[in-house]
Amino acid sequence: MRKKIVAGNWKMNTLPAEGVELAKSVVAGRGEVCSCVNFIVCPPFTHISEVVKALEGSDIAVGAQDCATEAKGAYTGEVAAQMIAALGCKYVILGHSERRQYYGETSETLNKKMAQAYANGLTPIYCVGENLDEREAGEHFNVVKAQIEEVVYNLTEEQFANLVIAYEPVWAIGTGKTATAEQAQEIHAYIRKVLADKFGAAAEECAILYGGSCKPSNAAEIFAKEDVDGGLIGGAALKAEDFLAIGKGF
Ligand code: 13P
Repeated sequence: MRKKIVAGNWKMNTLPAEGVELAKSVVAGRGEVCSCVNFIVCPPFTHISEVVKALEGSDIAVGAQDCATEAKGAYTGEVAAQMIAALGCKYVILGHSERRQYYGETSETLNKKMAQAYANGLTPIYCVGENLDEREAGEHFNVVKAQIEEVVYNLTEEQFANLVIAYEPVWAIGTGKTATAEQAQEIHAYIRKVLADKFGAAAEECAILYGGSCKPSNAAEIFAKEDVDGGLIGGAALKAEDFLAIGKGF
């Protein structure tokens, strides 16, 4: 049985006190959602520590939104995977389209980041997805295939067993435009096939999340699809009520 996951990517939002408040509100309402749902919150680096404390005693996990390519050293401004792990994070989002687009992240840098994540016991949430031009040109399958082959195919079987994938079409992120449940299922099934081509039956166990304007009103329909195992939530993760309501979509 694959894990059901609802992960909140807070991006560059909330001040520390607001993040703590948000985390506490999620804990307060968590009991209303099936215990079968694994919740993860990914705050900015600056308040991971306080959010971890606010979540103590709950089953809500914490992730970072990125990590450095190197283990440590003279890399001003970077945050190492071992630092993130030391704060109590279990997950790290890698390859988010905003990082690919605005910070020039490539498969080469992502291979290094994945290695750092695994070396420090973190589970990567590896993001893939096409932009609008690519979708309109019918290139979306090839785009996600390349993003998987260039990075995920380099993992060992053991590493792959500890990976979460997030499919996030760039045209649906923060735009209010969601992929239809059918569009999500079509590409999730394709992603699982690409994973199976390399890792065989283990691909059946890999959680593949949908991300892009996922909200309480559309989560249930999308999560009902066979190959959709949850969501990576941006805007709607900033309101505990909406984040929890998305969890109720299962
Ligand atoms: P939105 O839910 O705000 O569209 O963001 C999705 C996302 O990028 C999550 O990583």
